Amino acid sequence: MSDASVSGSEWTGKTGKSWAHEWQRTDRSFGPLTERLVAAATAEPFDHALDIGCGAGEISISLARMSPASQVSGVDISEELLAVARERAADLPNAHFTLADASQWIASDRRPDLVVSRHGVMFFDDPVAAFSHVSRQVSPDARMVFSCFRERSENLWAQELSSVLDVLPAPADPRTPGPFAFGERDYVTAILEEAGWGALRFDAIDYGMVAGEGPDALDDATSYFLRIGPAARAIAAMSGEERDRAISRLRTMLESHRKGDRIELPASCWIVSATLAR
Ligand SMILES: C[S@@+](CC[C@H](N)C(=O)[O-])C[C@H]1O[C@@H](n2cnc3c(N)ncnc32)[C@H](O)[C@@H]1O
Repeated sequence: MSDASVSGSEWTGKTGKSWAHEWQRTDRSFGPLTERLVAAATAEPFDHALDIGCGAGEISISLARMSPASQVSGVDISEELLAVARERAADLPNAHFTLADASQWIASDRRPDLVVSRHGVMFFDDPVAAFSHVSRQVSPDARMVFSCFRERSENLWAQELSSVLDVLPAPADPRTPGPFAFGERDYVTAILEEAGWGALRFDAIDYGMVAGEGPDALDDATSYFLRIGPAARAIAAMSGEERDRAISRLRTMLESHRKGDRIELPASCWIVSATLAR
């Protein structure tokens, strides 16, 4: 997971390739959250689901498998991640993946009656405009279910990464587009209501972000954090002893979160549910 001030370049080009390469470890990192999110999304039947910021496609693929007569449209700005999603869904004729900014994506005649996202909705420069646009593309009875991190202060994994590397300042404005932009419940409520969504429900979920697992869990977790996200960016900018010291501090922090053969960092998120209030 990347840190604040995330722009499109975080998901495309060289960094996008790293995310695409790491899709298995990223899916794993979401741990039990995925099951909760999919259960909430499929609590009612759907005809067409729109997966915003679908990335490498795990949520789209789950929905398409669970509901073969329904259609699933995954939308993302990263060609690299979409290529992985398309390959993974090659045997699913009801899953389609499109390169598009979700704030401008146009629905065909079969309008989505479900909008879903796993951590893909916190990156819009103008979230009210983006959610308003989405509300105009979906059917009048549409439901929406998405997950997003709660505030940075409630996410120990981010706090500890920052303190270990002490080069990862939080943005002055916690609402800056990025992983923690949707941490404040009142702020998200205001955005969604202004964009036409109602019947809002916020379920607070605490989960273990799985960073590494197996006999070499520590090496696994270290290499994951060195490959993508804020630690990777910070450490890539270092060299020599500074780099060695940073990696050593990172390993000590990760080891302190060992649970058996897993390294699991405490993470906190919302599952937000809404319906179109038209
Ligand atoms: C944290 S990743 C989550 C990916 C995926 N949902 C998952 O759970 O594996 C955020 C995703 O949102 C995508 N994204 C960011 N801004 C977007 C936008 N405006 N429209 C569509 N996708 C966007 C990124 O390319 C990235 O794949």
